[in-house]
Amino acid sequence: MQIPEGGQSLKGFPLSPAFVYLRSDFINKHMLTMERTLTILKPDCVRKQLIGAVIDKIERAGFRIVAMKKIRLTTQTAGEFYAVHRERPFYGELVAFMSSGPCVPMILEKDNAVSDFRTLIGATDPAQAADGTVRKLYADSKGENIIHGSDSAENASIEGAFFFSAEEVVSVD
Ligand code: CDP
Ligand code: MG
Repeated sequence: MQIPEGGQSLKGFPLSPAFVYLRSDFINKHMLTMERTLTILKPDCVRKQLIGAVIDKIERAGFRIVAMKKIRLTTQTAGEFYAVHRERPFYGELVAFMSSGPCVPMILEKDNAVSDFRTLIGATDPAQAADGTVRKLYADSKGENIIHGSDSAENASIEGAFFFSAEEVVSVD
């Protein structure tokens, strides 16, 4: 009987290394771990002409952009987006900053996107952010810190719907 490469017998064919590799590759790409997160390149990022530099880091880290636009939030919409912080002392400043100029919200796709994106952008305060992170590289202060990243998959979904209609979200093949 002809023995398939990498297998013991025809009966063992489903466990041949090539089959196992192709199957796990397919599962990794399409099924189990794909996740989305919502980011905003904040008004300081746009003002400093860092849109390209930050998107370059995001794409090199393996994130796919599935939705993107440039808009200017009003104090009303910025206040709604950050409503969870409305009792915090920095809320007024945050709303004023986020509505001070255009910003670039994006929905990003990758396996483990929420957590991996928080790692990529670094701590809220750039002084505390790890070397090489977006905030460490480009942010001036805890308030004006270049970029937003969702803190959970559930919030990513809510925040994504805040900025984008279903037609504006297009997966990359
Ligand atoms: O953005 P991140 O999730 O890292 O931080 P947050 O605690 O959810 O706060 C949201 C945003 O509020 C931050 O990104 C800052 O722009 C701002 N903030 C601030 O101005 N002062 C603080 N003490 C904390 C947050
Ligand atoms: Mg947050």
